[in-house]
Amino acid sequence: MYINLSGLNVLVTGASRGIGKAIASKLAEAGATIAVHYNKNVREAENLAHVLGNESKPFQADLTSPDEVASLFDRVALQFGSVEIVVNNAGTAIPSPVETGDDQWIAEWNETMMVNLTATGILCKKAIEHIIKRSSTGRIINITSRAAFRGDTADYMAYAASKAGVVALTRSIARAYGKDGIKAFNIAPGFVRTDMAREFIEKYGEQYATSDIALERLTEPKDIAPMVTFLASGMADHATGCTIDINAASYVH
Ligand SMILES: NC(=O)c1ccc[n+]([C@@H]2O[C@H](COP(=O)([O-])OP(=O)(O)OC[C@H]3O[C@@H](n4cnc5c(N)ncnc54)[C@H](OP(=O)(O)O)[C@@H]3O)[C@@H](O)[C@H]2O)c1
Repeated sequence: MYINLSGLNVLVTGASRGIGKAIASKLAEAGATIAVHYNKNVREAENLAHVLGNESKPFQADLTSPDEVASLFDRVALQFGSVEIVVNNAGTAIPSPVETGDDQWIAEWNETMMVNLTATGILCKKAIEHIIKRSSTGRIINITSRAAFRGDTADYMAYAASKAGVVALTRSIARAYGKDGIKAFNIAPGFVRTDMAREFIEKYGEQYATSDIALERLTEPKDIAPMVTFLASGMADHATGCTIDINAASYVH
């Protein structure tokens, strides 16, 4: 089986590090041109875009700002001429114990929802409009989490809730826009060795993360990226709406 994505423009959010970086790299290896979205890590994003080749480019946007999210899609579409695939990968996991003061807890809840769910929703809306306007076909791949199904610890209730929202969003797009040429997929990782997981592992210990998985080592970003490339290829279009668990059998729903 050979996957050739050359000629396809892909927006990967949160591509400056972690899972997004691995996804961008795998997609570019298959020939795609990548819009390497980042927020703070400008140097990593610029360097990655250069290394990926295929005329890939970095694009900055703070996903806590709805205006920046909408203009991110417009800027990518303008620069590349078209966007065929969006991978909503960027995410934040803010620990918010219930003992936190109300104002702070609510602010952290809102930030989590904005980055993980609202920004994903806005980029999906923009992609749907763009693809329908061009009478073309497109794919949306949303990175959700095992937490959407299993729930999370007390500190990460907002995170789990935001990721459950992403699952419902993706399924709705698949049902509503399939005949318009749009396919939508969820990928639900468990623990993946990135900066995001490091905070959790430092608090609860690596043993906590590995004790409930069925494999001998923690999942790495490179274990997620090939599935995204496969879904992007169009070979799995009749799985539109599905969620693919990549959590080493720690929570299979
Ligand atoms: N790691 C895990 O165990 C795990 C498990 C399940 C699901 N996931 C999901 O997988 C995805 C990637 O996670 P990861 O572990 O690779 O995370 P990570 O290493 O913490 O990287 C997060 C990425 O998102 C970007 N980002 C964060 N806040 C942003 C904001 N306000 N505006 C714009 N971009 C922002 C960061 O950009 P900058 O660095 O440029 O600021 C970075 O590229 C997330 O959706 C996460 O929820 C992760």
